[in-house]
Amino acid sequence: MNKYTLDTDTVSYDEKINALIIIDQTRLPNNTEFLTLTGDKDIWDAIYHLKVRGAPAIGVAAAIGLYVVMSGAGVTEKEKFLKLLHEEKEYLNSSRPTAVNLSWALNRMEERALKLKDMPVSDILAALKDEALDIKAEDTDMCRRIGENALTLLKKGDGLLTHCNAGQLATSKYGTATSAMYLGYEREYDFKIYCDETRPLLQGARLTAYELKSAGLDVTLLCDNMVSSIMRQGKINAVLVGCDRVAGNGDVANKIGTSVVATVAARYGIPFYVCAPSSTIDPATRTGDDIVIEQRPGEEVTRMWYEKPMAPENINVYNPAFDITDNELISAIITERGIFRAPYDFK
Ligand code: MRU
Repeated sequence: MNKYTLDTDTVSYDEKINALIIIDQTRLPNNTEFLTLTGDKDIWDAIYHLKVRGAPAIGVAAAIGLYVVMSGAGVTEKEKFLKLLHEEKEYLNSSRPTAVNLSWALNRMEERALKLKDMPVSDILAALKDEALDIKAEDTDMCRRIGENALTLLKKGDGLLTHCNAGQLATSKYGTATSAMYLGYEREYDFKIYCDETRPLLQGARLTAYELKSAGLDVTLLCDNMVSSIMRQGKINAVLVGCDRVAGNGDVANKIGTSVVATVAARYGIPFYVCAPSSTIDPATRTGDDIVIEQRPGEEVTRMWYEKPMAPENINVYNPAFDITDNELISAIITERGIFRAPYDFK
């Protein structure tokens, strides 16, 4: 499967210069530029400004970033080290609220350090590096297995719709929603893939269309408001999306517009599948109502992609980055551990 996916890592660690390396996703698809990040503020900014984005990828970036910051801090006194680790963890975690993978990865890093609190700081640092690289390697492995599980629900020649980017650029590799698409490509399933442009930040047009097309897959771009039209024509056999947080009752937070796609899919009897690693499941959050939805600046809607503003100055703008898809609209939640259906029990 490797040869079909982008041959660059979305997120990586450069040991020689002790830095977090990311593809700057705000520059895609026109420029492939890599950023070398070492400072906590730069890492926070890169996550907030979506230079690295997608739930699993921000978890991996934050974990590597936390290690980079702590190993560059030069703190050798244990108590000071653990206090700073906690502060930096909280700071990076404040960059985006909705994707649980961010806090999941950062908590995992702190827990690893606390287990070794009787060891010298140098040993704790070595363990933190291993933990960050494990989080990345596990993500790649989980994505592959999600793809294998999702593929069991699809047939040759299917038309598949996806929203936003739950692809390689949102993970360590393969993506979640796209993993079965890559596997299907390798195994000659001849999928016809449709991707929503995903207003307002165009992750579908800029990122999903780019990565699937680069890999040679058959992909067609459509505006978000064309979903009902294409479904009504019978061209979509299944919807595959990623997600940022799965609540204990199976409600799902994902990119704004996902719930519209799910609602229309239900109208036309099209299966709607959510693909997510276990790290995205958050049983501590009871329902979708308990998920914090990130609100983003209005300029993203009114002017970001235009030469001139495309709305009156000072217009009020509603710009939530995510929405909640109610569990009854979801046919199955596909993880690396298997295929879950209502009533959800993720244990
Ligand atoms: O705001 P973004 O681009 O980080 O939103 C990303 C999504 O909504 C993805 O669908 C989700 O994180 C899953 S990525 C495997």
